[in-house]
Amino acid sequence: MSSNMITLALSKGRIFEETLPLLAAAGIEVLEDPEKSRKLILPTNHADVRVVLVRASDVPTYVEYGGADMGVSGKDSLIEHGTQGLYQPLDLRIAKCRVSVAVRKDFDYERAVKQGSRLKVATKYTSIAREFFAAKGVHVDMVKLYGSMELAPLTGLADAIVDLVSTGNTLKANHLVEVERIMDISSYLVVNQAALKLKRERLRRIIDAFASAIPQSS
Ligand code: PRP
Repeated sequence: MSSNMITLALSKGRIFEETLPLLAAAGIEVLEDPEKSRKLILPTNHADVRVVLVRASDVPTYVEYGGADMGVSGKDSLIEHGTQGLYQPLDLRIAKCRVSVAVRKDFDYERAVKQGSRLKVATKYTSIAREFFAAKGVHVDMVKLYGSMELAPLTGLADAIVDLVSTGNTLKANHLVEVERIMDISSYLVVNQAALKLKRERLRRIIDAFASAIPQSS
């Protein structure tokens, strides 16, 4: 960790886009567009603040081990990673979606659950899925995937998937239906605990500015 630099870990896409107004409230402007550049370290209008682009599921890892001082991470990634070593000061109420169970239209999920059948579940979110089905008393065979979960029920790899749903368009386009909502998701500001002590004032200013700019509606 560069000692005097403040490094913020973000993932490309919705989290990056929806964090920009919060950064603006802290007087921070990112000087390059990640959709146009291949750079992984983006400068800002402050010489001592930079943004690093990492995979969404890697944000908690970067912040825990000090590769970044702070980061914006979906609750899904935080639950899967665990929040050890992370100071988690704010629900930013951005990048909202939900984790749900989905199956093929012709798969009778209710019946499978009632009959106590073993369910083959494909997901990237194995911790969330395990806990959910264990609480329901449903036995599952878990298939770990890293993306395009929607394909699993279509190819016979699984009976059900556990995935993020936002508009529902991806499910619809692949003839899948949402049968259970497991939890609502939003993104959180997470901070490295050592950095919070060493760079307290500058980080506090950013945390407070983010807090003042959290969207209130919906
Ligand atoms: C997520 C998720 C679904 C999709 C749902 O993927 O895995 O595929 O969004 O959104 P919708 O309900 O609005 O169609 P994301 O775009 O985050 O990328 P990923 O597949 O790389 O995780």
